[in-house]
Amino acid sequence: MFEPILLKRASLPRSESIDVYLANGGYRALEKALREYRPDGLIELIRDSKLRGRGGAGFPAGLKWGFMPKEDVQKYLCVNTDEGEPGTFKDRVLVEKDPHQVIEGATIAAYAVGATRAFVYIRGEFFLGVKRWVKAIADAYAHGYLGENILDSGFDLDMTVHRGAGAYICGEETAMIESLEGRRGEPRLKPPYPAQVGYLGQPTLVHNVETLANVPHIVLNGADWYAAIGTQNSTGPKIFCVSGCVYRRGVYELPLGTPLSTIIYDYAGGVPGDKRIKAIIPGGASTPFLTADQIDVPMDFESLAAAGSALGTGAIVVLDQDTCMVDVARRTARFFAHESCGRCTPCRVGSQRILAILEGIEVGRGQPGDIERLQSLCDGIQGHTFCPLGDALVAPIRSSLAHFADEYWDHIERRACPFLLEEAPLIRAAYPVGGTARETKEDLAVTARKILVVDDDPDFVEVTRIVLESAGYEVISSADGGEGLSKVRQEKPDLVILDVIMRTVLDGLHVSQEMAKDPEQCTIPILMVTSIANRDYATLFLTDDQVRFDDFACKPIAPDDLLRRVKALI
Ligand SMILES: Cc1cc2nc3c(=O)[nH]c(=O)nc-3n(C[C@H](O)[C@H](O)[C@H](O)COP(=O)(O)O)c2cc1C
Ligand code: SF4
Repeated sequence: MFEPILLKRASLPRSESIDVYLANGGYRALEKALREYRPDGLIELIRDSKLRGRGGAGFPAGLKWGFMPKEDVQKYLCVNTDEGEPGTFKDRVLVEKDPHQVIEGATIAAYAVGATRAFVYIRGEFFLGVKRWVKAIADAYAHGYLGENILDSGFDLDMTVHRGAGAYICGEETAMIESLEGRRGEPRLKPPYPAQVGYLGQPTLVHNVETLANVPHIVLNGADWYAAIGTQNSTGPKIFCVSGCVYRRGVYELPLGTPLSTIIYDYAGGVPGDKRIKAIIPGGASTPFLTADQIDVPMDFESLAAAGSALGTGAIVVLDQDTCMVDVARRTARFFAHESCGRCTPCRVGSQRILAILEGIEVGRGQPGDIERLQSLCDGIQGHTFCPLGDALVAPIRSSLAHFADEYWDHIERRACPFLLEEAPLIRAAYPVGGTARETKEDLAVTARKILVVDDDPDFVEVTRIVLESAGYEVISSADGGEGLSKVRQEKPDLVILDVIMRTVLDGLHVSQEMAKDPEQCTIPILMVTSIANRDYATLFLTDDQVRFDDFACKPIAPDDLLRRVKALI
């Protein structure tokens, strides 16, 4: 069993507080760095550790630190907390559970490169994360770990939190800098890289939260200790986020190079119902699919590249035999089309065209030339866009076409989604890539014929309505899901709400396990299910008398009555 390094404090009560951090070895690395190292020595230490960035690209951190100019000019550090790649929820855990670890790593990094001003750029929806960052930074100032003359070393560092507005592209480092400068978050042309020309034109070191969390451990234990974890060129521990069709969704910290099968079966508990795995997304929505025969691949940068995919953010989404791969592609395309910043035509228009074709195929309106059209759109986008989002959009679509062409043909020939024509279409329509809803459906034998689809995105409501209606369901839709659901939560705090998105992935799992223990005693007034896009909710209120409702208690209730009540609530 691997002893966690980055998450070792995460399970302690009040792990986010400075008291717990200090009582468990916190800020000793900063003291050591300031006392025993000159900046160049720290850069060498990080280079020797072979730490690679955890934000997706795996760029060697020591090399990046070395690119920062040595001259005495104003330099900046940005802590990238914009985490938004579908399936990824590791930085959120680090920030919510152990923010001081990241502050300590960031302060050491700032000292090494001579930055005296640091920004924490955080995704706007991470409410708790923002709260934890702000409190932790204030406490670090109060204890002398931030501010002027830190620990009497003569080194000054100011750190502030900047909330983004929830655009995925603002996680891209140059778009993030644009946003920090008060402009619309659109990428800049690279080179020059931020290490040369970044915030306000000054050298800026940008790092992912998880990358920085590694730094104190390297300072305390040495480069050799760190490099001995993982593989030769992918060193150190990695936080893997596991979701989709597995029993235990969540975050697992393991050495890089751990076989994918070990993570899925030994840690995440395997696939519910002993179902066959059809595909795996190994590193977030932008990484090409792996197929079931690649399940033993070591999870490190080199092995995944050799397997035709990428480690990306280490976000593993497991898709079982019942998953419709066309729908997964559709949802993935929908995410990227929505997140395209619109700056360049191939991405702005191409992503919408890809999405329209995939939506058509999924609802039974596919044409024989659609596959060629998709290929040609991918050709037109790949390598022809201003930033990597274009390639990120294309990679999963291409790999889906390469591995699952038969499913596309099946949709086109049968003029419907074959998975919707089979048993249990409800859940697949709503949540093609994941387990909780479907699992729960199986656990509790819930079926429904009349469905209220609620989401705050009218487009999504419309598409879901079309898909469900084509499968023979009566659908009532409403496009104010976000607000409505919060109201339901507020007014009915005792409701069991299944929620498998990042925000409450562990709580969701807990609820699911509770229900599995005693299905007879369990009612599910609301099933909240999500797609792989983390802000992409499909909330289904099941209105069937097989689901027992009585003012959200335990007795059966007529569908129309339920609907009236749900409508009254939202
Ligand atoms: C579209 C896009 C979105 C990105 N989103 C994030 C993100 O949310 N968090 C992150 O750390 N890096 C993200 N990156 C990578 C950053 O541009 C940058 O490489 C990273 O923050 C550098 O940190 P690292 O060297 O520690 O990995 C994204 C890149 C692209 C192209
Ligand atoms: S590739 Fe997409 S996200 Fe990137 S600059 Fe072009 S339009 Fe914007």
